[in-house]
Amino acid sequence: MGISMIWAMDRNQVIGKDNALPWRLPNDMKHFIAETRGKTVVMGRKTFESIGSPLPKRRNLVLTRNLEWKAEGVETVHDFTDVVKMAEHEVIMIIGGSEVYRLALPYADKLIVTYIDHEFEGTDYFPEVDWNEWTPVSEREGILDEQNTYPHRFVTYQRHA
Ligand SMILES: NC(=O)c1ccc[n+]([C@@H]2O[C@H](COP(=O)([O-])OP(=O)(O)OC[C@H]3O[C@@H](n4cnc5c(N)ncnc54)[C@H](OP(=O)(O)O)[C@@H]3O)[C@@H](O)[C@H]2O)c1
Repeated sequence: MGISMIWAMDRNQVIGKDNALPWRLPNDMKHFIAETRGKTVVMGRKTFESIGSPLPKRRNLVLTRNLEWKAEGVETVHDFTDVVKMAEHEVIMIIGGSEVYRLALPYADKLIVTYIDHEFEGTDYFPEVDWNEWTPVSEREGILDEQNTYPHRFVTYQRHA
């Protein structure tokens, strides 16, 4: 139960550029898949359109104000309080983007962050987080190779009681 948020950001909190990820980092994709598999994921309509199709092996919920909008393989949500209610019974994973992270942050109890130690050009940023409210509970360095060239670190935080 509860709301978890998962994202990757650069040194300047950049998370996206022109509705796409600014980097290629397969290690982070693997981490994302492992953390979200089997769960309910919630994303904004723009993030869904940037991914282009539902994420397999997960219940996909797309937040939109447009009552007409629909896409195959996803359920739509128009009111974030419905997501908050669902989180009373299961773990909900918030997977972006900026607007939806900002909306969900006050309700989240777990943050799953990939820090990418690089500076990218971006148009979309993660909102400010008051890190005093959060305790790191796990941390792991990403392994660099020819496919994964940007130094990165995976850190999970729990909100203080
Ligand atoms: N680095 C990462 O981990 C990561 C992860 C995910 C996304 N991203 C990036 O984030 C960027 C997209 O973020 P974004 O902020 O532009 O868009 P977004 O958060 O993905 O989607 C915004 C849309 O969500 C809907 N929405 C927002 N608040 C709502 C509310 N209170 N009630 C109902 N619907 C609501 C609206 O859809 P309608 O306009 O249809 O009403 C709004 O236009 C892209 O660059 C993407 O690549 C990065």
